[in-house]
Amino acid sequence: MSGLFITLEGPEGAGKSTNRDYLAERLRSAGCEVVLTREPGGTPLAERIRELLLAPSEEAMAVDTELLLVFAARAQHLAQVIRPALAAGRVVLCDRFTDATYAYQGGGRGLPQERIAQLEAFVQGGLRPDLTLVFDLPVEVGLARAQARGRLDRFEQEAQAFFEAVRRTYLERASLAPGRYRVLDAGQPLAAVQAQLDGLLPELLDRARG
Ligand SMILES: Nc1ncnc2c1ncn2[C@@H]1O[C@H](COP(=O)(O)OP(=O)(O)OP(=O)(O)O)[C@@H](O)[C@H]1O
Ligand SMILES: [Mg+2]
Repeated sequence: MSGLFITLEGPEGAGKSTNRDYLAERLRSAGCEVVLTREPGGTPLAERIRELLLAPSEEAMAVDTELLLVFAARAQHLAQVIRPALAAGRVVLCDRFTDATYAYQGGGRGLPQERIAQLEAFVQGGLRPDLTLVFDLPVEVGLARAQARGRLDRFEQEAQAFFEAVRRTYLERASLAPGRYRVLDAGQPLAAVQAQLDGLLPELLDRARG
């Protein structure tokens, strides 16, 4: 058994967390063993790193510090949760993964993609998601949803141009490797987004059953 590694990506308020739960429910009803997790975080130690990353703070965080913290959390998450679950043949549904690093630290912060690729190779070896669902929507729609949810974290306080770069990077990556990515129109009402997921379900089940 080799498991199936599915990641959910997209900017703030795109509906990743909402739809991750929906998808998990659908996969479980079909008999899959599903592990739900998220990044940054997914283990107690990695969640502490998440708090460091998200909390607004007086001291500006250097971009390289941010990048290394993201990958430090990821190394812990891979060791404790993702690799063991995949080895046990489970379906791992992960809310954000390395595509988010390319989008936020690369596109948003302007770090060279090659530097991210080096850390990706170092931390993950050859492990990549089997499938990545990109929840795409206009930046202002996502931000309005995130704002309606409450106080903004360190990333959500960024300017519009930052999120436009995040969105553009996700779409570029998806267009370069269409085999791995499925782009959903996440600006639609929730029921319509879930209908798009239902449309992907046969393929997901096919791959989960390997
Ligand atoms: N298609 C939709 N239409 C309208 N509202 C939605 C839709 N999908 C999600 N929402 C609402 O928008 C808010 C953000 O959704 P959610 O938390 O799932 O997004 P997210 O992508 O996980 O965001 P973040 O990156 O900030 O964690 C929630 O209040 C959710 O109920
Ligand atoms: Mg979320």
